[in-house]
Amino acid sequence: MKVREINIEDYKIKERPYYLPIRDEVTIFRAAYESGIPVLLKGPTGTGKTRFVEYMAFLLSSEKSLKEGEDAPQGISLVTIACHEDLTTTDLVGKYLLKGDETIWLDGPLTKAVKTGAICYLDEIVEARKDTTVIIHPLSDHRRVLPIDKKGTVLEAHPNFFLVISYNPGYQSLIKDLKQSTKQRFVALDFDYPSRDQEAQIIRHESQTTQEIAYDLAKLGEKIRHLKGHALGEGASTRLLIYAGRLIQKGIPARRACDVAITSLLTDEKEVQRAVNEVVAAVFP
Ligand SMILES: Nc1ncnc2c1ncn2[C@@H]1O[C@H](COP(=O)(O)OP(=O)(O)OP(=O)(O)O)[C@@H](O)[C@H]1O
Ligand SMILES: [Mg+2]
Repeated sequence: MKVREINIEDYKIKERPYYLPIRDEVTIFRAAYESGIPVLLKGPTGTGKTRFVEYMAFLLSSEKSLKEGEDAPQGISLVTIACHEDLTTTDLVGKYLLKGDETIWLDGPLTKAVKTGAICYLDEIVEARKDTTVIIHPLSDHRRVLPIDKKGTVLEAHPNFFLVISYNPGYQSLIKDLKQSTKQRFVALDFDYPSRDQEAQIIRHESQTTQEIAYDLAKLGEKIRHLKGHALGEGASTRLLIYAGRLIQKGIPARRACDVAITSLLTDEKEVQRAVNEVVAAVFP
């Protein structure tokens, strides 16, 4: 197995990601970043959490370079870690490796971010084991340090290091909820579905479809979300509406596109699929 040192330069967001602000999330995130308070993003799947963090990494780096009179933005790296139940502190922090007859230390992604002043985004944090989650505690309060047990050292965070975590409260069972002691170290930004006009704008941009189709898809999303709770566990995300738009743009008839990009993914139950299809048929007669 080939093991490679993380090159933080590879994690810089070089182009401005498209992001349509929904509320005051940009202002709050900027204020939290400048105050060194970590941010917790909450919300259903496909509502723009990941896109928002990418956008903020780019925006903050451009603003910083403007303020400091740099010729070109230095870029802020964004290290994203998808959490899962097998994720160990070693995966995050790093490990010793045998290379020939030498033992070398390899920084994990979190350590790399802490050292270099990157934004570290821990996605779906509730999926991680409890013993993994506590590692972020000393990093996310006034101490701003990362203990590296294997080395017996404590690493002080670079002044620009910033921690962002996300979770989807919809999936969470009681056992999987975040501990209050973890939660209460963050400011929380709630992500929800955008308004119809905002969502139409996003769909149009991301799927390059016509304004009319984008608007119809946004309307469809809104109507399907009304079914949520009655029959559906989760509403149609903006992501799915974009997928439908892309298929339509490729010449797939609208109803068929919605079938494969939306209905079939929301539920496996035929009865519920029929209910969703009725909504589709009402929007795309
Ligand atoms: N406000 C927005 N501005 C621009 N694009 C958006 C916005 N909201 C959603 N999108 C679009 O929806 C897609 C899905 O968003 P994203 O992947 O950021 O969701 P997420 O909240 O991170 O979902 P998950 O919880 O599944 O990781 C994006 O790729 C983007 O095309
Ligand atoms: Mg995401």
